[in-house]
Amino acid sequence: MSEIINKLKTKKDSITYEELVYLLSTDKYDQQIFELADQIRKKYVGNEVHIRAIIEFSNICKMDCLYCGLRKQNKNLKRYRMKPEEILERAKLIAERNIKTIVLQSGEDPFYTTEIIKDLIIEIKKLGVAVTLSIGEREFEEYKIWKEAGADRYLMRHETADSKLYKKLHPSDTFENRKKHLFKLKELGYEVGAGCMVGLPGQGPKELAKDLIFLRELDSDMIGIGPFIPNPDTPLKSEKGGDLNTTLKVIALARILIPTANIPATTAMGSIHPFGRQLALKCGANVIMPNLTPNPYRPNYTLYPNKICLFEADTACIDCVRAMIKGLNRKVGETHGFRIKYSAV
Ligand code: SAM
Ligand code: SF4
Ligand code: FES
Repeated sequence: MSEIINKLKTKKDSITYEELVYLLSTDKYDQQIFELADQIRKKYVGNEVHIRAIIEFSNICKMDCLYCGLRKQNKNLKRYRMKPEEILERAKLIAERNIKTIVLQSGEDPFYTTEIIKDLIIEIKKLGVAVTLSIGEREFEEYKIWKEAGADRYLMRHETADSKLYKKLHPSDTFENRKKHLFKLKELGYEVGAGCMVGLPGQGPKELAKDLIFLRELDSDMIGIGPFIPNPDTPLKSEKGGDLNTTLKVIALARILIPTANIPATTAMGSIHPFGRQLALKCGANVIMPNLTPNPYRPNYTLYPNKICLFEADTACIDCVRAMIKGLNRKVGETHGFRIKYSAV
């Protein structure tokens, strides 16, 4: 076995930035990295795949992230906001289907005040599910109120840990600020989900290695990694986008560096390759997030083109992911799927 793979196996905590850059610059070890990630996934988080149902409740956003179809300046999008009653009704249907986590995701939409989100959390928690918020950057005080109301997790990808690239992609924000939010969420007791896109313009092995180092530094409880997919209605329309192999490698390395994290096989993976999510589940991922956004809204949450699941029957994605998990000889998670904290080496 080569020295570097041996180090990944036995001394992962001392893997350096330079070594990660090297691994991301060559395809020589890819197969070994994928196999090791699969073994580590099995050892630390087992064969269960946790299902988290996602409700994309508003596609209105005050931000202008250069890559995203929901950005404020995109005028080619039919905008919607679900009423709190509609969101709650949907949450009930999901809980009845025995799904144990509900993810509330939206653009950064101030319409949903501290109180509206708080009341939603209180009502949804009565259903016995874990609640994950993914609604962008808000005031620290709001994070606290929502945690006290019962929210369990917060997903907010760091997008890229390269400060210069972060600034280019988010003209009104900085990586330092995003970092502060993520550490604050951790301090408040949330399970925190960071993560990045792969294949952003100007991003290569060096930048991706920074992402991995940052995920390790944060000790991210959840890690969302997907390819960047250029959207024709954004300034990045002519860029190339992320490829399957590199994205799988970043997922696999994340699993190796942070073995107990919950890592989804993202929708974007399924959108660039018909078996993208299955491949991710074989390279370290242990979570899947079926789309439970109701119609007529679902097709309008258009982050990028060719997004899967837009025209499936209402709750079909639940059965689809259950079948997918069984097809891979894995087990459908029956618990809430919190991060397993244990001190195995
Ligand atoms: N507004 C919240 C936020 O930004 O955290 C949550 C929703 S946002 C649409 C969810 C994620 O979509 C982002 O973190 C980003 O990584 C991803 N995303 C947006 N545009 C994308 C694109 N063109 N390709 C791939 N992923 C994209
Ligand atoms: Fe808004 Fe999130 Fe899209 Fe940025 S990534 S434009 S914050 S929805
Ligand atoms: Fe949506 Fe398979 S998960 S159709």
